[in-house]
Amino acid sequence: MKRLSLLLAVALGLAATVSARSAVIECWFVEDAGGGKLAKKPAALLLRQGAESPPPRPDLAPERYLKVHDPAGALQAAFRRYPRDAPAPRCEMSLYVPLPASAKWLSGLTPEQSCPRALDGTWLMVSMSSPFLSLSSLLRPQSEPLPEPALITMATAVLTVFTHTPTPRIRMGQDALLDLSFAYVPLTPKAATSLVPGPPPFGLEWRRQHLGKGHLLLAVTPGLNGQVPAAQEGSVAFAAWDDDEPWGPWTGNGTFWLPAVQPSQEGTYLATVHLPYLQGQITLELAVQKPPKVALTPAPLVWAAPGEAPPELLCLVSHFYPSQGLEVEWELRGGPEGRFQKAEGQRWLSALRHHSDGSVSLSAHLQPPPVTSEQHGARYACRVHHPSLPALGRSAEVTLQVAGLSGPSLEDGIGLFLSAFLLLGLLKALSWAAAYLLATQNSTEKVQHSTFLYFSHLILSAFPSSSPEGGCWPGGQNPALEFTQTCIKSCHLKQA
Ligand SMILES: *[C@@H]1O[C@H](CO)[C@@H](O)[C@H](O)[C@H]1NC(C)=O
Repeated sequence: MKRLSLLLAVALGLAATVSARSAVIECWFVEDAGGGKLAKKPAALLLRQGAESPPPRPDLAPERYLKVHDPAGALQAAFRRYPRDAPAPRCEMSLYVPLPASAKWLSGLTPEQSCPRALDGTWLMVSMSSPFLSLSSLLRPQSEPLPEPALITMATAVLTVFTHTPTPRIRMGQDALLDLSFAYVPLTPKAATSLVPGPPPFGLEWRRQHLGKGHLLLAVTPGLNGQVPAAQEGSVAFAAWDDDEPWGPWTGNGTFWLPAVQPSQEGTYLATVHLPYLQGQITLELAVQKPPKVALTPAPLVWAAPGEAPPELLCLVSHFYPSQGLEVEWELRGGPEGRFQKAEGQRWLSALRHHSDGSVSLSAHLQPPPVTSEQHGARYACRVHHPSLPALGRSAEVTLQVAGLSGPSLEDGIGLFLSAFLLLGLLKALSWAAAYLLATQNSTEKVQHSTFLYFSHLILSAFPSSSPEGGCWPGGQNPALEFTQTCIKSCHLKQA
């Protein structure tokens, strides 16, 4: 019984997986409607299909309901890592016209001057984008839709280019690795025997678009001899076919590597794979981020008397990028009204300071209102939110000490010990001096005693004899008092 329910659960799980990875992608067919206007018509792509016949779509024109034949498995590979619960990618398709690449360094791809007849006919370019995928595929539809039951047009994915990192966020100063995969299925397999078997030469191009200007970063043409522009900004690409099957289909890797990324390298990256007369292009949006450092002064304690305002708090938020999206909140933690609340008071932000590496800093200020003795031990915190940080942000805090309420801290204790040590030495020296005076100048005991009393008084006045709330000193006894008393006893002993 247990095993049966387990099987059932597995089966249900599988069913959920299959249905969640919807095999139908809704799309828009976009075309020029003249007069600078675009017309959009609904379309759909059936990417995968089981044994059953495709679902009928009477709402779509048959030439815009496409069943995609994908011999290279590129579309499946592209969707393999697509999160199940994520919305489907945005999809657009349009007519495509095969053309030779215009760049000189790509002229080796199309030595013959005319487009081969095999490429004649209709081509569609499909573009899909989502936070998880950027994909472009050139489809070659068949001229006639399949007959009933569902009117659908078969189309072959000839060249597909995609990335799983369409919006890479790179930590400032770290290397960017922008992944790019592509696949190609020759239209005329064995028939075109004039060609040498194996994957064809191709061109790979990475550029950055910034303020409307394209900037070529990397150009390679594996398998072709010829001059290519030099790589810029230390970029490198892994440009190679993964396999050398004689007749295809083939998959390739055009992953791009950019070292030590700086804010100036943010922008839209265009990756293009060139094959003779065919181009597949995708875009990626690279963002650079640097999380802020957060420090609060004064630290670790801030003092105030009851009914008075503590000094102004300064939260230094430094060396972050970008400047947009930064938020600073002030909190009061562990106060009398509960564990956590927004801190009251006047707050303001400084202007941005720009650093040579492109990062920025600013300081946030809080002037807290007067405190009450119940707030003793509460903590002021500045919490910083920034796109580079996890949702909780990053914070720094300072503990409020309401004067007259604090017990001696460790530092106080050490200070006390040190002063006691020094005073002991001083008293010893004084008693020796007094004894010396007594011996040489035949002075009386009175001199020594009055010096002694004077210093005892000094020590005692340095410490309050007891805390206002009582019980401040351990055992209710002022340690300084204890010390002087012991000292007076022992000094008297010495004297005796
Ligand atoms: C492409 O090459 C890079 C670098 O060798 C590698 O990290 C990446 O996994 C490759 N991508 C694929 C899809 O094989």
